[in-house]
Amino acid sequence: MENKFKRTLITTALPYANGPVHIGHLAGVYVPADIYARYKRLRGEEVLLIGGSDEHGVPITIKAKNEGVTPQDIVDRYHSIIKKSFEDLGISFDVYSRTTSSTHRETASDFFRKLYDKGEFIEKTSMQLYDEEAGQFLADRYVTGTCPHCGAEGAYGDQCEKCGTSLNATDLINPRSAITGNVPVLRETKHWYLPLDKWEPELRRWILEEHKEWKPNVYGQCKSWLDMGLQPRAVSRDLDWGIPVPVEGADGKVLYVWFDAPIGYISNTRELLPDSWEKWWKDPETRMIHFIGKDNIVFHCIVFPAMLKAEGSYNLPDNVPANEFLNLEDDKISTSRNWAVWLHEYLQELPGKQDVLRYVLTANAPETKDNNFTWKDFQARNNSELVAILGNFVNRAMVLCHKYFEGRVPEAGEWQEIDLTTMQDADKAIERMADNIEHFHFREALKDAMDIARAGNKYLADTEPWKLIKTDEARVRTIINLALQLCANLAIAFEPFTPFMATELRRQLHLGDPSWDQLGNWHILPAGAEIDKPSLLFEKIEDEVVEAQVKKLQDAKKANELKAWEPEKVADTIDFETFEKLDVRVGTVLECSKVKKADKLLQFRIDDGMGGRTIVSGIAKYYQPEDLIGKQVCFVANFAPRKLKGVESQGMILSAVNADGSLTVIGPTGPVTPGARVG
Ligand code: MF3
Ligand code: ZN
Repeated sequence: MENKFKRTLITTALPYANGPVHIGHLAGVYVPADIYARYKRLRGEEVLLIGGSDEHGVPITIKAKNEGVTPQDIVDRYHSIIKKSFEDLGISFDVYSRTTSSTHRETASDFFRKLYDKGEFIEKTSMQLYDEEAGQFLADRYVTGTCPHCGAEGAYGDQCEKCGTSLNATDLINPRSAITGNVPVLRETKHWYLPLDKWEPELRRWILEEHKEWKPNVYGQCKSWLDMGLQPRAVSRDLDWGIPVPVEGADGKVLYVWFDAPIGYISNTRELLPDSWEKWWKDPETRMIHFIGKDNIVFHCIVFPAMLKAEGSYNLPDNVPANEFLNLEDDKISTSRNWAVWLHEYLQELPGKQDVLRYVLTANAPETKDNNFTWKDFQARNNSELVAILGNFVNRAMVLCHKYFEGRVPEAGEWQEIDLTTMQDADKAIERMADNIEHFHFREALKDAMDIARAGNKYLADTEPWKLIKTDEARVRTIINLALQLCANLAIAFEPFTPFMATELRRQLHLGDPSWDQLGNWHILPAGAEIDKPSLLFEKIEDEVVEAQVKKLQDAKKANELKAWEPEKVADTIDFETFEKLDVRVGTVLECSKVKKADKLLQFRIDDGMGGRTIVSGIAKYYQPEDLIGKQVCFVANFAPRKLKGVESQGMILSAVNADGSLTVIGPTGPVTPGARVG
């Protein structure tokens, strides 16, 4: 099956250049794709890893408008942040380009034109939503309204985020323009549609019969789409940001972003290999794999394949190993709520820890269900796995080599039983790892790689060379030799997962370029070869580091709550007489103390100019008693007395409720005679 193919083209969903990338993108798409690509390269296979930014689409123009800049400014900014952060994380793209490149414009344009010339589109005039004040049609995210399927408010013209249904703008109930807030009118316009229904029988056979091996989540989504029946889909829009529709009479119309973006995979291959790109797309011996998140399944399994079929000369993907979503600290990652760990910030705030993030995101990859990232787990996996298992084993083996053999690989004698079992354990782990990667089970594959280090730790613990050295140096030579061979194997096996560590370890062991064939070879390091003194591969992560990250998230949440805060609605109108019934006075706090067994209450003795009174108030969470002694406060003097925790309260101290729910006591701005009335 596998050797039907000569080479592998790996694509990664092109991220929208309207914001930086976060750990959800990484765990779902880029880290697994990079592991796969690095693994294939290690095996000496011909492979390309294709990436790039998706720079069209309505969210980008909306953001530009909000900031008062051009869409090009927005995509320039985020394209460079995204590109740099991927590089710094070691995502080994062979090309990372963008959909505003001239190569892409030409490729996408030609693609459309070819389908147009072949008569693959339906031309249709229909009524679309139009904003008369803004003077433009309202496509996709330019319109919001009530979802016709689930009734959620705020559904977009292309999709309801609540129930996930993809929509047409005209499906929305009570539509509103996202530009002016106006109720749109209907206006006639012409668009080109790709008749997906025409391809339905072929897609059905191709996916449901010929690709039963696809992940159940992917297969299932495709089946439900196909079972619902496919409809023609508009591939053009009335917008001014995008690639112009390359036919007569299409002024003011651009290609729909989901038409041009996947063609970006082709454009970027072309940009990289102007003379030989075609074999990567058209030679049936090329295997194409799309790495995407689950929200992209229909586009990669149905729409793009239909486009490729309509064109006629391209391969279809062999697999689409889409992942589910990653949550963050038990909450959905959200760009608009700033609930995310942004890659470019991570790289800055935790420098040199690329591998830790790659490791944790792989160990927790949302492969079969949504998964959760927490900073506590991040710390635990670093400290008790990377440091305590992997780092510890390598360090011990190398330290012993320096201690007993001056940093030269000792010669092995005859293998004994325990040596052979250890090698077998490692061999099995390596075999499992390969099988798991081939089947896109990266979490399991990482465990397998880790098992090599586990076998190493167990080997040293069982053989105890530090004891044997006094009695049997020859045996210790064999043990350290094998321990070092295990280190060398680790330096290769971890190359797909934690490439920075793997490179560093190979440097310390004086190993050249890694290759898969060396795995399971127990003579990678020749006897007598020098190795460096080990420097730590992983460092413990202290509590402060993760606590700071958790605090940052909490702050973001607070800032968001503040942004979302609106003052309470003003109460019903009252007349002067009603107002006069309320007797508010100024008093001075003489005493203040906590009320026993009531953590919310403070008890006050107030100088009210009338001999004093006691008031109990529920503000203990926000004030220490000594904060208020001597201060002047306003209180309702004719409030009916009531008992609180056994204390009679003779009035009510006034305070304001802040956006975050905290209370601030209200008092005069200058000194006031105690007992004076407020009015
Ligand atoms: N920009 C899209 C998203 O983030 C993905 C585009 S993938 C491509 O959901 F195939 F269209 F490039
Ligand atoms: Zn809905």
